[in-house]
Amino acid sequence: MQDYNNFLEEILIPTDELQSRITELAKQINEDYQGKNLHMICILRGGMLFLADLMRQVDLPHTIDFMAVSSYGSGARQSTGQVRIALDLKEDIHERDVLLVEDIVDSGYTIASVLEMLATRHPRSLKVCTLLDKAERREVEVPIDYRGFTIPNKFVFGYGLDLDEYYHNLSFIGTVNPDKYQPPE
Ligand code: PRP
Repeated sequence: MQDYNNFLEEILIPTDELQSRITELAKQINEDYQGKNLHMICILRGGMLFLADLMRQVDLPHTIDFMAVSSYGSGARQSTGQVRIALDLKEDIHERDVLLVEDIVDSGYTIASVLEMLATRHPRSLKVCTLLDKAERREVEVPIDYRGFTIPNKFVFGYGLDLDEYYHNLSFIGTVNPDKYQPPE
């Protein structure tokens, strides 16, 4: 696998900025969910680093769960917005205060579908927390209750977001110079 330094165009959000924004988001969540039954749901795989850092700063008693969704192919997803559950939640969310934790909202199809599916299970509340909002790419309106950063329409990777399945682990968000990036064999 190529060293990311070969194709890194710029560090869009450095580690310290990510972490201080996550601290602010956690503070807001701590205030808003005081005395409630907070249940954080991470949408795999991109949201996992964000959840791990966020939950360490949420000082309310809370529970977590995970789900994964897949598109029916990129073309179909773009035209119909359909996604299906690839890995369902372990826990029932009935009458719970659910907070969805995502790495990025792009077209909005993923969050829109997940919100629709989860609403049928009758949570007490259902909100969205995304680290990144690529707002100019939105194709379907979605409510975002907690937003880390609004970012430009650039090819981003790192901090949970993969590049051909690699680099989930980077502590910052970078942008790719497509002229210098070679996808793995
Ligand atoms: C990414 C990201 C969001 C979704 C956002 O997931 O983690 O779930 O795309 O895009 P949308 O707003 O256009 O629907 P991806 O499908 O790349 O899966 P991954 O998290 O497993 O890499």
